[in-house]
Amino acid sequence: MREIIFASGNKGKIEEVGHILRSENIKILSLLGIDAAPEIIESGSTFEENAKIKAEVIYNAFRVPVIGDDSGLSVEQLGGGPGVYSARYAGEHATDEENNIKLLGELAAYPEPHNAKFICAAAYFDGIKWLTAQGEINGRIIKVQRGNNGFGYDPLFLPDGYTLTTAELSMEEKNKISHRALAFNQLKKLILKHWSENEK
Ligand code: IMP
Repeated sequence: MREIIFASGNKGKIEEVGHILRSENIKILSLLGIDAAPEIIESGSTFEENAKIKAEVIYNAFRVPVIGDDSGLSVEQLGGGPGVYSARYAGEHATDEENNIKLLGELAAYPEPHNAKFICAAAYFDGIKWLTAQGEINGRIIKVQRGNNGFGYDPLFLPDGYTLTTAELSMEEKNKISHRALAFNQLKKLILKHWSENEK
């Protein structure tokens, strides 16, 4: 069993990623409840840059293979925003509810449909090797929040081809189609390939 730190303290994301990687010979640790974790400043201008910053900072602190990820919502009518600012859209320590209210306020000036996508970049770093992957899911932002599953903007996000928001889908269903599932399934394959090549 190999250990990887998932460089996140976000409960919703940790649960989803734990679920996606669960079947493999990988034990996933996270930053939840780790007081010694260094502060990560997401100073990148792309999701991939931020994912790599997270992986590198946490690797340097613990010297254990790390997966960093960065994700967010990109809305067409907002020029791709809130993008890398998704978590802090309504302010530095904004709650999901505050971010959702801010999003609805910004979109009130535009006609529907509010086409949008969730994007996730994931990066693995073990001190030598970098592996990266990215996933996207298309959909639109609706006017009224629906559902209690998931986190973040899920109550407002209707994936293309679905009548339920990602907060109304079960975790199993969301994990079949989500940006995070696409990125992490791809990254998982790359990691397992890398490990098997190194064992030869
Ligand atoms: P991160 O923790 O820096 O990756 O920020 C991710 C932010 O983007 C979250 O706080 C949410 O606001 C938003 N986000 C990313 N993925 C999702 C998702 O699957 N559902 C809902 N919101 C998401």
